[in-house]
Amino acid sequence: MPATVLPIVVLISGSGSNLQAIIDAINDQKLNAEIRAVISNRPGVKGLERAKAAGIPAKVLDHNDYDDRDSFDHDLKALIDSFQPQLVILAGFMRILTKDFVDHYEGRMLNIHPSLLPDFTGLNTHRRVLEAGRNQHGVSVHFVTNELDSGPLVIQAVVPVHSDDTVESLAHRIQQQEHIIYPMAISWFAEKRLSCKNNQAFLDNRALKETPRWINNKLETY
Ligand code: GRF
Repeated sequence: MPATVLPIVVLISGSGSNLQAIIDAINDQKLNAEIRAVISNRPGVKGLERAKAAGIPAKVLDHNDYDDRDSFDHDLKALIDSFQPQLVILAGFMRILTKDFVDHYEGRMLNIHPSLLPDFTGLNTHRRVLEAGRNQHGVSVHFVTNELDSGPLVIQAVVPVHSDDTVESLAHRIQQQEHIIYPMAISWFAEKRLSCKNNQAFLDNRALKETPRWINNKLETY
């Protein structure tokens, strides 16, 4: 019997390079998923073009049209749910989400954050990593909970920081890794190897005590 296809909705606010990596992984048959829709809170962003080029419904829900966070999240939830996804993917979606919204997608919403969480939550992570003089940086995929850039970790990619790195060079190195580990994490979910219950991530029926790490193009044992 063919494995069932995982229906997903991807939320973006910008360039959508992670969206593109997910589209490519599906096309390359590395990920058994169907992107039912791409939703952006900003009109005119490149990610919407990428969705259209791939034949995926591209929707805009502009947060500037709303007076408050609750009413925006209410309509966003209704729009997402109209596509009946089993997993919601935050891919550079630059909005803080309300508790109701996050609770509604408990265990079925993933985010990618450009740092080795729990270090460097929030914005401008590359600059802050350079300023702190760290020799390692990375990116984390995690289930979304009500704490910003927190929630059970699924996988992290680790990269070196070189003495001559700039924000741009570091961002580039990190993005290359994002495009590998995000489709990988989603494929684990699609294959029903990955789940999350009561704030605990499970991979292959084992509670993830240590986060799997992608280093030098290899998955470290977990
Ligand atoms: C990525 O760096 C991701 O880690 C962060 O937002 C950025 C999105 O980039 N959450 P893109 O829109 O996927 O190119």
